[in-house]
Amino acid sequence: MQPDYSNPHHILDSRTITEGNVAWRSPSNLALIKYWGKYGRQLPRNPSISITLDTCHTETHLGWQPRTSPGTDIDLTFQMDGMALPAFGERVAKFLDTVTDVFPFLRQLQLSINTHNSFPHSSGIASSASAMSALALCLCSLEEHFFGKEDDESAFLRKASYIARLGSGSACRSVYPFYSVWGAHGDFPDSSDAYGIDVSSGVHASFRTIQNAILIVSSEKKPISSTAGHGMMEQHPYADVRFAQARLRLAQLWQALQSGDWDMFCAITEDEALTLHALMMASRPGYILMQPNSLALIAKIRAFRAETGIPVCFSLDAGPNIHMLYPAAHADRVLAFIRDECVIYCEDNRWIADRAGEGPMPLNEP
Ligand code: PMV
Repeated sequence: MQPDYSNPHHILDSRTITEGNVAWRSPSNLALIKYWGKYGRQLPRNPSISITLDTCHTETHLGWQPRTSPGTDIDLTFQMDGMALPAFGERVAKFLDTVTDVFPFLRQLQLSINTHNSFPHSSGIASSASAMSALALCLCSLEEHFFGKEDDESAFLRKASYIARLGSGSACRSVYPFYSVWGAHGDFPDSSDAYGIDVSSGVHASFRTIQNAILIVSSEKKPISSTAGHGMMEQHPYADVRFAQARLRLAQLWQALQSGDWDMFCAITEDEALTLHALMMASRPGYILMQPNSLALIAKIRAFRAETGIPVCFSLDAGPNIHMLYPAAHADRVLAFIRDECVIYCEDNRWIADRAGEGPMPLNEP
């Protein structure tokens, strides 16, 4: 059963609206088992699990004041780092319009958003997960400000996850610390296609401090969007096998995460990353997002693992950049490896030291 968050009664008495501001910081996340293929109102074809990142995040400030001329559209000004970005603003306004079944009062307000990413806009790192989760959290806080608090924090986060999902599927996993599952799966009784859940408490201590070095192979805008990629899964020859495989791999990876089995973790994580890109290559039309330096880094990581026995592995998002994952206990040797052997394959030697993080943080109380 999907939750129904629509609430036509959440309308404000326009005489009593005062102006204010709410702000959240929310992180990006890296999927280990990938969500690839969707249907309906942004529902996943298969369940996924992710690591919530720490360093890569978005800070969003949502300001409001009573609207001077009432209308049926969304009244929004949008800025990133203080610069007006009308094209982005239109996309955000469109998204806000799609959630007015949940937040009908948005049409009564003059809204302003100012947002900042901790990572460069052109780093090739997807910002939609952090951006959409930060915005969803702001919207849920705004609703609480006007209409009172949810019963408990988990109800608040679940709703924020649901709203974030409507903006960008993977964003629904960013509202939780450390590890999150999105999509119904028998091993997780509370799991749902409608929102993500926090599964961190079941994860072995050594995986809570997992490190993620993001090696920037290219910061260029990718030629095929994730939306187009999800769409191509509809007619994909391997779709059914893939969706079943993701379920099985989630069960296997969950065993590894619970027991602290890094070898199994590395094997499944790498298989998943390569499967995602194999699906892209076998789409119609087929496309390749990895670049020669992505392949060089994969070979380097595998050779380093074989030589040292340190469980270092890689993952990939829908792009050419390499997410190198490793235990915190081996940080010294891995950092030397990155410096000595990996950065030469990165664009302008750029990489970001990230890790599993504690999840979103409110920056003010409205
Ligand atoms: O949330 P979207 O529509 O940007 O899709 C994300 C897809 C992957 O990053 C490739 C996988 C995932 O589960 O995050």
